Amino acid sequence: MVDSKKDKNANPMWGGGFARPPADALAKINASVAFDKRLYRQDIAGSIAHARMLAKQKIISDADAKAIVAGLNDILKSIESGRFVFKDSLEDIHMNIEAALKDNIGAAAGKLHTARSRNDQVATAFRLYVRDALDALDAALRALQAALLKRAGEHVATLMPGFTHLQIAQPVTLGHHLLAYVEMFGRDRSRVQDVRKRLNESPLGAAALAGTSFPIDREFTAKELGFDRPMANSLDAVSDRDFALEFLSVAAICAVHLSRLAEEMVLWSSAQFSFIRFSDAWSTGSSIMPQKRNPDAAELVRGKAGRMFGNLMSLLATMKALPLAYNKDMQEDKEPLFDTAENIMLCVQAMTGMALDFTADKKRMAAAAGEAYANATDLADWLARELKMPFREAHHVAARIVKFASGKNKKLEELSLKELQSVEPKIRKDIFSVLSVENSVASRKSFGGTAPENVRKAIAAAKKRFGL
Ligand code: ARG
Repeated sequence: MVDSKKDKNANPMWGGGFARPPADALAKINASVAFDKRLYRQDIAGSIAHARMLAKQKIISDADAKAIVAGLNDILKSIESGRFVFKDSLEDIHMNIEAALKDNIGAAAGKLHTARSRNDQVATAFRLYVRDALDALDAALRALQAALLKRAGEHVATLMPGFTHLQIAQPVTLGHHLLAYVEMFGRDRSRVQDVRKRLNESPLGAAALAGTSFPIDREFTAKELGFDRPMANSLDAVSDRDFALEFLSVAAICAVHLSRLAEEMVLWSSAQFSFIRFSDAWSTGSSIMPQKRNPDAAELVRGKAGRMFGNLMSLLATMKALPLAYNKDMQEDKEPLFDTAENIMLCVQAMTGMALDFTADKKRMAAAAGEAYANATDLADWLARELKMPFREAHHVAARIVKFASGKNKKLEELSLKELQSVEPKIRKDIFSVLSVENSVASRKSFGGTAPENVRKAIAAAKKRFGL
């Protein structure tokens, strides 16, 4: 039987014309407060700015605005102290807060929603949340850069093999290797800062989609909330989620960098490499193998990259082909974003901890740097430079010498001058000066190269460039 009167269980915010409460599954699929309660601070900030503007514009009385602002501040305290009771029946954080405001201050609470819709309300709160997340990520990445730079300073001249194809290629220094990540995280930070600039416009005052007939002041609310200006188009203001997509894509790229560093830490701390060791604080044991020290945090950083890529894909797919303006699909923007925002911070913090924690086995690393004919390029370079051989020919000659040495089970520097001359008679004894790992590394002084002298300068330059 259809009741003509409003049901007492109908939604208190929009249920005025509804005779029955929503079906259970509708209530369940509609409710977002379990996750969007994370927006409470931003929602309250948006509401306070809106209430002040309404009073300034004489749309509501000063007394009502005062009561609203005081009531909202009380709610903020009650949420922060854990006393606030969130109700699924009130759908989302916005209606939970408004309902609590009504309980606190009575009828004046109902005036807050003048010249506003949940559509511009949620767009505003979500933008503010993503802006906070960007600022937090920038600060965390800066701390990671500082940690890597500190370790690079300790390892300016620590020798290690550089790899291509994960095969030993040429010797490098650990300091140089760590500085590569300082560059990557620097680009991540510049992307973060770039997203923030584009994000920083206020959707508030777009109302449901078309603007409002009330004489609102969008410049005022934009300023109050730290936005540079109001968004120009009301339809765009309530339907744009580019800022969330950009956050997810920046975080996904950052997750790639983090997972590459994590992978190197996993490799380097393995028995086969034995380049680094983590203290107990960053190692985990096995419940069956007493000898194990596992780099779980690095593995999880590597693993979490996957879900962060997925979160970007998820929101791209949600937004694709949505007609203007607001669609409820867009409530699905929250969980992927919160998941990435929380996990990217955790990953950056874990990598910072591991970067500061590891100890390097310098002897082992230097020995590895001298293995597998890592100095073959130095040999070829000598032939090209000293004998004026075309590099292609020098490469062939050096390859023949490597083959010869390998047949004798010797390193290049262990061959006698006679043996070297048996392959190329013009070779002189000063060739031995370029064959040591130290000299190989020290000679790579081209800009951006691995020589300790360069690394020292690169550290100072990075400090300046990244404001560390
Ligand atoms: N919880 C909703 C969201 O996150 C708020 C906006 C609801 N707007 C509406 N017209 N139903 O998208």
